[in-house]
Amino acid sequence: MFALLFLLLITFIGWEALRFYRRCANLPPGPFAVPLLGNFINEVKPPYFHVALKRLSGRFGSVFTVHLPYPVVNISDFETIRDTFRGNDVTGRMQNVLIEVTRSCENGGIVASQGASWQEQRRFAIATLRDFGMGKNLMEEKVRLSAKNMVEFIGKQDLGNIDLRWSIQVFVSNIINEFLFGFQYPYEDCGKLMNFVLGLNDAISELSRSRIVPIIFMLPWTRHLPIFSYYWAQHHKRFQTMIDYVRETASAVKIDLTEEPTCYVQAYKKNNKDQRFEQMVACCADLFNAGQETTTTTLRWSMLFLAAHPEVQEKLRSEIHAHIGRDRIASMADKAKMPYASAVINEVQRCANIVAPNPILFHKTTVDTVIGGHKVVANTLVNGDVHQMMKTDAVFEQPDRFWPERYIAEDRVTLRKELVERTIPFGIGKRQCAGEGLARTELFIGLTSLIQNFRVLPLPDSTIDLEPIYTNIHFPKPQNFRLERVKHHHGQ
Ligand code: HEM
Repeated sequence: MFALLFLLLITFIGWEALRFYRRCANLPPGPFAVPLLGNFINEVKPPYFHVALKRLSGRFGSVFTVHLPYPVVNISDFETIRDTFRGNDVTGRMQNVLIEVTRSCENGGIVASQGASWQEQRRFAIATLRDFGMGKNLMEEKVRLSAKNMVEFIGKQDLGNIDLRWSIQVFVSNIINEFLFGFQYPYEDCGKLMNFVLGLNDAISELSRSRIVPIIFMLPWTRHLPIFSYYWAQHHKRFQTMIDYVRETASAVKIDLTEEPTCYVQAYKKNNKDQRFEQMVACCADLFNAGQETTTTTLRWSMLFLAAHPEVQEKLRSEIHAHIGRDRIASMADKAKMPYASAVINEVQRCANIVAPNPILFHKTTVDTVIGGHKVVANTLVNGDVHQMMKTDAVFEQPDRFWPERYIAEDRVTLRKELVERTIPFGIGKRQCAGEGLARTELFIGLTSLIQNFRVLPLPDSTIDLEPIYTNIHFPKPQNFRLERVKHHHGQ
């Protein structure tokens, strides 16, 4: 009996190894890897994917294969990322247990779906964002109103020692919340929203810290084993609680099909061919999640960089006061006249570099294709390593320095195209961020409103810590500020 089991095991391992190395032969070169554990045994220590990928591209060039533990073709130079993501060959996403545990509907939503369903839902979300935005400028008005509320709320706090996290979070969350469901949470009564955000962060961090998840990731059948199934169910429950919240909020939206839609849920019900309720919930959940943490985190980083670089902050404030004044909330029409603000935002996004390599955002080849001269078979994961590119591309001199001036052209009014072109925090190509337009509006109006009204300083006797917390999103470490109110004209 024992001998038979042993023989079966050896045969299984041999078979897996054969399949594994045969597949490797069809992929770009990379470091030695073993079946099941891939490069986790020798090269990659989660969550520091970005460190390993940088080291490996030094050894193998800008296109190589790394096993995490599935083979992933990593690309780290701008031209190859751009050319690869421009077409339709690499628009798939990984479909596996990790996706299953975080979702409520198969191939649902936008971020992790693929094929015709992804295309339809993505197109509809972008069109709806545009309908509520361009021309009528409704989205911009929502952002401006939310910024006004944020500044007023902060003004009522103890400015001597203040945590800006929730003020910024509510500013950003309310905008996407109003777009999706048609209402904003008042600052004084946003407990539900905070619980959602904390619950989601908790679900994500529990999932990335778990020791069992990597095993299930490699050997999905293990999730049915006794202890494993218990922990797996816990992870599932945490994410489902978040999805339940989105479902309930979406269900509460009043629908009158004879009226013009004023939010995404109404527009979806009115226009979408795909009438599955769960599909709509999945899209709302994606837009709600993708639309909050990223912009909030970027704005939090902007406060830290500007507190650490007072000369940049003063220069930005002078530009704001010169073009917008001291009382009016900025509008997007101001942006074209404010090259320094654009330079600061580009440099914040490049240096904060918040989206680290993340399996959920890896692309997947949908057909056999060629990447950087290497043949790559269908169904292979591909990471366009924008994170590394923005840190190492030669156009960024002294890349570790926070220096917005790098973007300003010699004429002092335009931005340097070759740098802007390579500053791609929203990704590039067919799967580029679907909320980029909204995010840029939030960043410009949010940042200018804060700096217009407050001088942001470190707490007395402390320095700003710019070392991130390394997870899939590079968050800043929690730290408070001291704010000084900038005087309004009539106050001077
Ligand atoms: C500063 C803020 C933001 C950053 C840095 C950011 C960054 C990104 C990145 C890097 C991707 C993946 C691109 C790829 O797979 O190649 C992405 C995808 C996505 N983002 Fe954003 N994002 C931001 C804000 C937003 C906002 C405000 C929304 C919603 C209104 C949003 C919705 C989405 C969606 C739906 C996707 C999936 C697109 C797809 O797979 O087709 N994002 N974002």
